[in-house]
Amino acid sequence: MKTTIFISRLIPRAGIEILENAGFVVEINQKDRVLTKEELLAGCQGKDGLLCLLTDTIDREFIDQMGQLKGIATMAVGYNNIDLAAAEEKGIPVSNTPGVLTDATADLVWALLMATARRLPEAERYLRAGEFKSWGPMLFLGGDLRGRTLGIIGAGRIGTAVGLRSRGFGMNIIYTDPEKNRVLEEGLGGRRVELNTLLREADYITVHVPLTEETRRLIGRPEFKLMKETAYLINTSRGPVVDEDALVEALQSGIIAGAGLDVFEKEPHIHPALLSLPNAVLLPHIGSATIETRTRMAMMAAENLVAMMRGEVPENLVSQKK
Ligand code: DGY
Repeated sequence: MKTTIFISRLIPRAGIEILENAGFVVEINQKDRVLTKEELLAGCQGKDGLLCLLTDTIDREFIDQMGQLKGIATMAVGYNNIDLAAAEEKGIPVSNTPGVLTDATADLVWALLMATARRLPEAERYLRAGEFKSWGPMLFLGGDLRGRTLGIIGAGRIGTAVGLRSRGFGMNIIYTDPEKNRVLEEGLGGRRVELNTLLREADYITVHVPLTEETRRLIGRPEFKLMKETAYLINTSRGPVVDEDALVEALQSGIIAGAGLDVFEKEPHIHPALLSLPNAVLLPHIGSATIETRTRMAMMAAENLVAMMRGEVPENLVSQKK
């Protein structure tokens, strides 16, 4: 009997080839959209392995019906959409794709940070609307970077890569993390601080924590109140880490200067008020969206799945070993 795999959406070809070359029978969701729970269940029926995405809800109910799975490989570093405890109880290993998307995501943080601070989308809309009549001394004034403080919440792989990129801009770095980060401290003179200190001192705050019960709504009303009126918040991690109602209030009432968001609390639903706020720059979760990065993610997910199908421990196991 051949090993059968379900892929919940079309991914870069290189990932599919790894599975096919391993001799597996691969079925791919042909609809260019996220599958409903029922469709996902139907697709995985009788399959040995699942290659899923961050948009698939792999909860206890799903796992209870899919006990035959020998492995779940998500093509993402974040795996908050998968009930790990339920998978572990059924003995289904779960893997993710860390590392390969660090640079692409860190690059996007800077694109978003500068677009927000220098009001690029707003300025471009103004020009396209034919409003640009002359250079103006007060036209689209934004925030400086040199000498300003970058606050990194969560100094893991991506947070560190964001910090490293600040070198060229001459910024000071403060960060929060359970661990001391030598790269940020020794290489860049960064300082580890408490979250409240970071919120008070940083001019640019960038969030790089995984979504867990501890980090859900980590940034809410009390936290916005601590920030400077001139502060910018950048979020490329997971939407629910920021209380979006509180963020809207903060942006509307000038508690902070602006926000650059690649992720949303109820993604893909966007808080309607955010859509009309000029000081919010909004992107459709494209942190890792480069051709090379998505190809590497697909290949890594596929390699993990091959290992799991062979009963081996995958390189990027996130569940507990059984
Ligand atoms: C991830 O991998 O978790 C990102 O959000 C998408 O690449």
